Amino acid sequence: MGLVQQSLQQVFSDTYALYLKTQNYHWNVTGLHFKSLHDMFEEQYDSLAEAIDELAERIRALGEKTKASFTYFRDMTKITEPDQQADAEAMLHDLLNSHEQLISSLEQAKKISGDQDDSVTEDMMIARLSAHQKVVWMLRASLSR
Ligand SMILES: [Fe+2]
Repeated sequence: MGLVQQSLQQVFSDTYALYLKTQNYHWNVTGLHFKSLHDMFEEQYDSLAEAIDELAERIRALGEKTKASFTYFRDMTKITEPDQQADAEAMLHDLLNSHEQLISSLEQAKKISGDQDDSVTEDMMIARLSAHQKVVWMLRASLSR
């Protein structure tokens, strides 16, 4: 598997793991800000779901089979498991850290695709970076401590 495809598989696995974590927190969040966080997490996982499909199809367009299974994702992802004990504030902090982890996988994929003159993948990585930076802002703005 080529370097670009490998770096895309990393981003894909991380995005899938963050998708599931965001759904977990959508379902399990409690407290005074339940409604706004429940809704915000839904918007976030909807947008991650779209990204997952685009990333998977980019891997296919580059000629590789897309690797997608719970075992593969668990072995591959750098995103930590959801915290089942987390309160709303801890969920926000955890999501923030996970988006920052994903940003680092994206930076790497952007660098590799740039080095390989794959401007389509590079452009996709830039678009994903922009989306995650916006979510980081929203999560940070929602923190109370
Ligand atoms: Fe829901």
